[in-house]
Amino acid sequence: MIITAFPETFLTELTDRNDIVEVVGSYVRLSKRSGSNLFGLCPFHSEKTPSFSVSPDKQIYHCFGCGKGGGVINFIMEIENLTFPEAVEFLARRVNMPVPEDTNDKDSKRRARMLALNKAAAQFFYEQLKAPDAHEAHAYIKKRRIGRATATNFGIGYAPDSWDRLREAMKQKGYTDFEMFDAGLVRRGKNGGFYDAFRHRLMFPVIDVRGNVIGFSGRILGDGEPKYLNSPETLVFNKSRNLFALNLAKKSKSGYIILSEGNIDVVSLHQAGFDSAVASLGTSLTPEQARLLSRYTGEVIIAYDNDAAGIKAAQRAIGILEKLDLKVKVLALKGAKDPDEFIQLKGAEAFRNLLEASEDQLDYRLRTVTDKYVLSEPEQKVAFLKEATDLVAQLPGAVERQVYALRVAELAGVKGDAVADEVERRRKRKLSAARRTQEREQSRPERQHQPGDKKLRYEDPASAVAEEGLIRLLYLDPALADSASLPPPEDFSSAALGRIYAALLERARHGGEMNTAALSGVLSGEEMDLLVSLLQKPEQLQRGEIAMADYINRIKERKELAAGSGDLRALADKLRKKKGYEG
Ligand code: GTP
Ligand code: MN
Repeated sequence: MIITAFPETFLTELTDRNDIVEVVGSYVRLSKRSGSNLFGLCPFHSEKTPSFSVSPDKQIYHCFGCGKGGGVINFIMEIENLTFPEAVEFLARRVNMPVPEDTNDKDSKRRARMLALNKAAAQFFYEQLKAPDAHEAHAYIKKRRIGRATATNFGIGYAPDSWDRLREAMKQKGYTDFEMFDAGLVRRGKNGGFYDAFRHRLMFPVIDVRGNVIGFSGRILGDGEPKYLNSPETLVFNKSRNLFALNLAKKSKSGYIILSEGNIDVVSLHQAGFDSAVASLGTSLTPEQARLLSRYTGEVIIAYDNDAAGIKAAQRAIGILEKLDLKVKVLALKGAKDPDEFIQLKGAEAFRNLLEASEDQLDYRLRTVTDKYVLSEPEQKVAFLKEATDLVAQLPGAVERQVYALRVAELAGVKGDAVADEVERRRKRKLSAARRTQEREQSRPERQHQPGDKKLRYEDPASAVAEEGLIRLLYLDPALADSASLPPPEDFSSAALGRIYAALLERARHGGEMNTAALSGVLSGEEMDLLVSLLQKPEQLQRGEIAMADYINRIKERKELAAGSGDLRALADKLRKKKGYEG
């Protein structure tokens, strides 16, 4: 249930006026097959034969392939990546319905007016590219090798070399000087008169995820200062909460977002086919921007400029992104100052290779730790070893730890075994600290998470939460069963969940369809109920891989802890058998 502030009558009218067939039909080509349902290729997973159905009478959609389904608002939330209120607003705008909250609110009227002004200004700048005096702008666009389609895609325009052309054009449309001033489009001179803020610049509209033009970024044509002129903070423009080109990148199917520094880098990346590139708006990445990113992706690849400032900014960004559980990689640009130059010099293919080789944050961190010290100096070598082993000890996989321990040893020119031992010592220390935290958490009442059926009681509720999560993911996306890092069912703390998991794995690996009906032959009644009940909890497939890694880690960690404390699990199993609970 989604709790909303929208009145029921408004939502009813909204969904009545937005027919699901029409709305879905503008994204998916639908055709009639049999009965009253329409079918098409699912926009939420890739497939060759249509398993996506839309029911005109029930006004719902459902994909038999990926299991996504819902009403028209869900569809817009999913496909446009919007929150509930945003999707409502989107649909309301589609049919020219006022959103109730907005009607009495003075601020939101001003916002709406400013957005309309910005849109008109963007249109004006775009049109100006056709004006006779735009030749310098054209020459610059050509010099930067921005193609026509790309320019249109980004809505790139030109602010003419004039003090009042924008102002006059907007006046014609009924906007006042003060409105333009509030929007940052005009400035006020000493004599009190107003003049255009952007002059003789290449204009990039900044568009938010809902498609609103919230501000502008104007680049000088060629060299000169300031290189960029950005809209000031306004009622609708907050630099630290928006990212350039996220409106485009949010639609990408690539599964990651490329974070770069410059507008031109983003434009160039999109043109080369990397349609998930964004840039922060001339600031270093903020926590708000990171949160925004995490709504659209599970993985961020940082492609900052290849200079001291860029490296420093990347380090900061890693810290901010990791806090949100995002997978972070860093691109190692070589032989070019930024992504744009790299693509111009070496082409899109070379950039694609770079992306594939992009280091995950451990490699990157290890490299930066290495760069920090002069390893020929004994004291520095010790400090390096301390910092590097600490880093390696954080890795969940034993093999991975071994590999990296050897790498660290090689870098420092010391024996591999010594480093590996030190890594394990640090690892143990971390684990016992984790165990203490876990014990504390488990004693909290909300962690006493249990199935309805007493017979299936969880020995370890905290681990069971992760086990349930893994099951849910596997059910929603059987393709995840191909992951090499999945734990064996024996690693589960709950035998019942282990059996469900084993049954799902078996089906998934043999390409079987996941539905409760198909599994009812394999699972017992209680297990089936448990499965259905745990499937009711929400799981975000969009970030499925990250969630999965987290669940797996927790399950493995529990296993390690249990093994470390005299094999408690075996003991628990034995006790349970004795009581006759199992079998
Ligand atoms: P090129 O040098 O043409 O490749 O530009 P770029 O778009 O790659 O920008 P650059 O890497 O130089 O700068 C990164 C970002 O910082 C820009 O996109 C702007 O948002 C911002 N920025 C750069 N210069 C200025 C400036 O002079 N003033 C302001 N306010 N922001 C700037
Ligand atoms: Mn640049």
